[in-house]
Amino acid sequence: MTDADLPLSPEAWEARAREVLPSDIYDYYAGGAGDEVTLRANRDAWGELFLRPRVLVDVGEVDTSVRLLGELLPHPVVLAPTAFQRLAHDGGELATARAAGATGSLLVASALSTVTIEAIGAAATGPLWLQLYVFRDRELSADLVRCGREAGCRAVCLTVNVPVQGNRERDANNSFHLPDGLEMANFAGHVQAHMPEPGGSSGLDRFIGEQFDPSLTWDVVGWLLETAGVPVVLKGILSREDARLAVEHGAAAVVVSNHGGRQLDGAWPTVRALREVVEGVEGRIPVLVDGGIRRGADVLRAVALGATAVQIGRPYLWGLAVAGQRGVERVVELLVSDLRRALALTGSTSLREVDARVLAG
Ligand code: FNR
Repeated sequence: MTDADLPLSPEAWEARAREVLPSDIYDYYAGGAGDEVTLRANRDAWGELFLRPRVLVDVGEVDTSVRLLGELLPHPVVLAPTAFQRLAHDGGELATARAAGATGSLLVASALSTVTIEAIGAAATGPLWLQLYVFRDRELSADLVRCGREAGCRAVCLTVNVPVQGNRERDANNSFHLPDGLEMANFAGHVQAHMPEPGGSSGLDRFIGEQFDPSLTWDVVGWLLETAGVPVVLKGILSREDARLAVEHGAAAVVVSNHGGRQLDGAWPTVRALREVVEGVEGRIPVLVDGGIRRGADVLRAVALGATAVQIGRPYLWGLAVAGQRGVERVVELLVSDLRRALALTGSTSLREVDARVLAG
């Protein structure tokens, strides 16, 4: 397959992925919680924020680079943690890691990967963070954090919005589970490597209910800071109050996220939450955002509202499903070139200088 055979628009990537994936796996990737109100709103709300272009600015050169936790990244598109990537393509997380390196993208590896964090670290050539869920068996989570650090992860990203799983009815209807031959590789040798039988729901829902610790409080951040020995990022912040608490508890960054509409259906779209989270942190730590970011103009909007970087989830999973490593690379390349175009067309020469003046109203 040459690049000319690959899709261009985000919708076309999804449509092509839908053709190649079994329907239960497509549903697991595409779906959200409940009525999928938040899933749709994430996407629509970016489009409701209009831009205010300036003209006759020399945009012969535009600079998309950003600084994040001491790292100079060539662009602000981060690959969000997404579980079970070998469901999309045999290459799975390793293909994604190679694509991240090839495109200069920061990669956040999911705790629930189908290859180990050691293997991901060995395949990665760019910056890598480990995403973490804290299990009831806290030692198992601590072990994973230590493996992540040894594998070269420069930060741990604790996902804080899954005390219980969102109501993912598509997965329950499909009795979603991991097929034989795939396991949660970071927990090999432990019962946590395997998803229970769906038993009237989805295997993932049962797994989360049995293994994730629903009693976590803000104390967990201090515990993780001691255990990790690398910066701790909190993913899943949607309010000013929690943004402040994150700073007070020592988080190095926060990610404004509603999990791509997969947790609380009805939670507000991330573009709207972003404004108040940025106010809450008062410039003390960087803010990232994800959910429905599909176009260069969305990245520009996020930065204009005060985000340092954005994450994408589903778009690169579609790339992975369609064309493995090259598909992930191509999705990122298209988004970054669209960002360059959006910068030029708004009369902005450097992403680091973009601010609210580029937004209309
Ligand atoms: C996710 N997400 C996620 N988040 C996380 O912290 N750990 C994880 O293991 C996963 N797994 C996962 C699987 C799949 C299939 C999806 C679609 C998402 C959430 C993810 O990191 C991110 O917040 C959203 O995907 C962002 O929204 P978009 O870009 O998919 O709209």
